[in-house]
Amino acid sequence: MQSSDLTIAIVGATGAVGRIALDLLEERNHPANKIVAMASARSAGKHVAYGGTDLTVIEATPDAFNGVDVAFISASSAVSKQLAPEAVKRGALVIDDGSAFRMEESVPLVVPEVNGADVEWHSGIISIPNCTTTPLVMVLDALRSISPITAVTVATYQAVTGTGAAADMELIHQSRAMLDSDPVVVEQYPHQIAFNLLPQVDDFLPNGYTKEEEKMLNESRKILHEVGLPLASTCVRVPVRVSHSESVTIEFQDAVSPDEARAALSNASGVSVVDDPQNSVYPMPLNAAGKDEVFVGRIRKDIAHENGISLWLSCDNLRKGAALNALQILDEVLKRDCLKPSK
Ligand SMILES: NC(=O)c1ccc[n+]([C@@H]2O[C@H](COP(=O)([O-])OP(=O)(O)OC[C@H]3O[C@@H](n4cnc5c(N)ncnc54)[C@H](OP(=O)(O)O)[C@@H]3O)[C@@H](O)[C@H]2O)c1
Repeated sequence: MQSSDLTIAIVGATGAVGRIALDLLEERNHPANKIVAMASARSAGKHVAYGGTDLTVIEATPDAFNGVDVAFISASSAVSKQLAPEAVKRGALVIDDGSAFRMEESVPLVVPEVNGADVEWHSGIISIPNCTTTPLVMVLDALRSISPITAVTVATYQAVTGTGAAADMELIHQSRAMLDSDPVVVEQYPHQIAFNLLPQVDDFLPNGYTKEEEKMLNESRKILHEVGLPLASTCVRVPVRVSHSESVTIEFQDAVSPDEARAALSNASGVSVVDDPQNSVYPMPLNAAGKDEVFVGRIRKDIAHENGISLWLSCDNLRKGAALNALQILDEVLKRDCLKPSK
């Protein structure tokens, strides 16, 4: 079966990720009459552009999933928890973008380039990781082929679309207000994001880390099948519209040279090495936006740790960080002929 034969629901079709999911389906020539665009009751009757035509948005109710083969849910955890079981009950495979099910034992958490085989044991729901976890595990998976990884330290630089379409508008409005010396309105974050950065992504936990930082740890371990992997991160929101970047230091069991790391990353599916610092060539969010790959550069020996490598990556959070990964999961499911749960 091909994905173009399937009736696909995009839940959250009016949102930042849903919009990109529609663009990707259009790029893949998916027939418009096999797409159901869903959102909240607020958006019912609105239109979303698709392949030179308009799709009418319907309210995502349980019965809206009748006849749907695959439902991509890009809304909120609460919506996923409510609607995913209803869609599964009606025979759909749910590919969920949110955090609702990621750490459930019965739910595969998948980046196809890393653990594609995990789709085979789904029970109706497959989750995609957080948009900072996805590029990180792709890089770690490539590098652990050289030597086992003993520790990972990450600082993220996360774009506002990672929070959704409303945060993107807030960055634009605040930037305009700052330039016009008008009052700045703060709604999406604890502080102004324009001309600023926030060392807080999501709520803080008692241990001083944020939920986003906890997600990076737990999700990376689950995807890489490395339950004890030591990984610490500091997640930072920056006034960038699209594409998350990460500064990553990886410690290995054995010595790894930058050339070995560069070669392993160059051979990794979905990864593109952009690394000519003498000519100021390295990944940047502006260049990664709208692209499918994880871009990696500034690959160098970490001089503070024996057997360490430091690098920098940028990746479009809405594409590989969300909608593209979700569509690639469907490709993997079809390739492995496991659209329906095996048990
Ligand atoms: N943004 C990213 O980079 C990224 C990356 C990975 C994963 N994710 C996850 O993807 C999900 C969506 O994120 P986003 O950035 O696209 O958010 P967003 O721009 O805020 O969009 C949210 C979407 O959810 C819809 N929605 C809200 N309440 C609903 C309901 N009761 N029933 C059905 N649909 C409802 C909204 O529809 P209305 O227009 O009708 O309100 C809108 O289409 C989140 O779970 C997020 O964690 C996001």
